[in-house]
Amino acid sequence: MKSIILAGGSGTRLWPLSREQYPKQFLKLKDSSLFQDTVERCLEVSGINEIFVVTNEAQKFFVLGQIEEMGYDFPAENLLLEPEGKNTLPAVCYGMKEIVSKFGKSTVGVFSSDHVLDRKSMEIISNVENLASEFLVTFGITPTSPHTGYGYIKPAESHGTGCRVSEFREKPDLEKAQQYINEDCLWNSGIFLMDSDLFFEELAEHSPAVHETFESTNDINEIYSRIPDVSIDYGIMEKSNRVAVVRLEHKWSDLGNFDAIYDESEKDENGNCIYGCDNIMVDSRNNLIHSKSNKLVSLIDVNDMVVMDTPDALLVCPRESSQKVKDVVSTLKSRS
Ligand code: GDD
Ligand code: MG
Repeated sequence: MKSIILAGGSGTRLWPLSREQYPKQFLKLKDSSLFQDTVERCLEVSGINEIFVVTNEAQKFFVLGQIEEMGYDFPAENLLLEPEGKNTLPAVCYGMKEIVSKFGKSTVGVFSSDHVLDRKSMEIISNVENLASEFLVTFGITPTSPHTGYGYIKPAESHGTGCRVSEFREKPDLEKAQQYINEDCLWNSGIFLMDSDLFFEELAEHSPAVHETFESTNDINEIYSRIPDVSIDYGIMEKSNRVAVVRLEHKWSDLGNFDAIYDESEKDENGNCIYGCDNIMVDSRNNLIHSKSNKLVSLIDVNDMVVMDTPDALLVCPRESSQKVKDVVSTLKSRS
């Protein structure tokens, strides 16, 4: 199998740690970043010369630096630089086109680089390659809440190792999300397995403007100056009736806020996760703390808080209010 890693997004839900120019996939809260973990996982199913990373000029050095740090010799032609971000559908097309021109018709795994995924899932993904000759295969996660930031997948009749999908809905409103949960729908993990021929067929049918733009020229700057901004979820998965789903039972987390990061992190005996700084904690428990400055950080009688210290911004909030970081970011955007 060939792999495309999508690494050009610019999430701000972990502000002030992640920024437009430094998104969460490259953050290193532990020894490795989510991007590096994604590369390691892809190496379970693809050789290094079969992995294509789609990103942009601003993030190029994170990609190359972090792969080099892992000790792999990544082929220069497998680094695909988009002139500007146009969301995931153009990024997947770019990767598919390069894979087909290097290897011919292929089965391709598309991997987001912004979540935590148990390595055992890669076995499940590589075992369903045959399903990808007939269907665009999505991978479903059992939902734990009516989260409105995910795609919802309604499984229908079984088909081999998976199920046909009767409905795929990207980012529904809260009421609809709750309804999907009541109907035993799954979250879309952001991972896809697709045959390149089937992908381009479905693209031509459901997002003809994207298809025609890629067909019209090989000049990537020209393509990106004209191509619509659309995600693979809206552009293909919601519209195609050739979608299947396979459940991923192992751990998956989108790490969408600091509370989710806290849940995933190793804690000390007081339940504190403290990254990057010398510290003295006095009667303080269950906090998530990050500071890369040379400051000593000390908390006294502080529980269940997030403290994020960066050179130009400091965030302090209760862990349970982590979702409100987006309010800070939107205020910041309105100021600029
Ligand atoms: N190269 C490139 N260019 N990569 C991109 C771009 C782009 O313009 N936009 C996003 N990406 C990358 C992100 O870095 C991430 O790794 C992946 O593509 C998914 O994009 P997100 O922007 O994070 O999507 P999302 O989280 O809103 O939604 C997707 O993921 C959810 C699961 O986390 C959808 O697939 C949902 O259906 C899904 O539930
Ligand atoms: Mg995401």
